[in-house]
Amino acid sequence: MDTPHMPPDHVPPDHVPDHMPPGHTSPADTADLAAMASDATSSPHMDSGSHMASGPHVASIHTWRTRPEAPAGMADAADRAAVRAVNLAAFPTAHEADLVDGLRDDPAWIPGLSMLAEAPDGTIVGHALLTRCRVGDAPALALAPVAVAPEYQRTGAGSAAVRAALDAARELGEDLVLVLGHPDYYPRFGFTPASGLGIRAPFDVPDEAMMALRLRPDGAPAPTGVISYPAPFGV
Ligand SMILES: CC(C)(COP(=O)(O)OP(=O)(O)OC[C@H]1O[C@@H](n2cnc3c(N)ncnc32)[C@H](O)[C@@H]1OP(=O)(O)O)[C@@H](O)C(=O)NCCC(=O)NCCS
Repeated sequence: MDTPHMPPDHVPPDHVPDHMPPGHTSPADTADLAAMASDATSSPHMDSGSHMASGPHVASIHTWRTRPEAPAGMADAADRAAVRAVNLAAFPTAHEADLVDGLRDDPAWIPGLSMLAEAPDGTIVGHALLTRCRVGDAPALALAPVAVAPEYQRTGAGSAAVRAALDAARELGEDLVLVLGHPDYYPRFGFTPASGLGIRAPFDVPDEAMMALRLRPDGAPAPTGVISYPAPFGV
């Protein structure tokens, strides 16, 4: 069974179906957590951040800009290629890169919610994607994948892309976002265990790894039930 992105300390591989949504961290990342710098977060509702990188590859202050991937027909080919390159670099296999390409051709794709983080020179270093899923019959969003090119990881690019994607979704009137991922990473954006809202994954997964975020918590009550992922996820 292919489980390259599961945090081994949280998700037994035997509990992970093939093709599950890739909101997970790699074992290497998990092993490196103790060595991570603590200065790589940005404030909520900002779409860029300034950070001092502490890793071996990057040793300067970065300010990440964010913007949505260009819509089809508007210089989109370069963005598509950059998104694919970031996902290929961030993950051990092409699964996530292929997933993004599959989602782009699927009705689940929502223009404006494929968010890029880029350096001041325009180099695209990070990507966060929100696509349509459902909880029961109600629409929601799935956050997956999130990827940062290895040489730029832990410098705030991933956080900038995620926050900008969430802000864009809120602007579109969306409320509920689901992510299957590392319980040490996503709570910084406000995610909490989805079970607390009565929302369940359609497969066996540790409770703390399936998380939910309401973008408009004062709105109508969130739906409850089982998550349905778009077809390209294969679940
Ligand atoms: C996980 C990932 C998207 C995070 O993006 P990033 O730009 O590297 O992270 P940021 O700089 O925005 O945030 C840094 C913070 O995230 C935490 N973090 C980074 N990678 C993490 C990981 N794999 N697991 C848990 N926490 C992680 C760091 O501890 C740091 O926390 P701190 O601010 O409390 O010190 C990126 O490292 C990546 O692409 N990893 C490989 C692909 C992957 O696993 N993607 C799925 C994400 S669940």
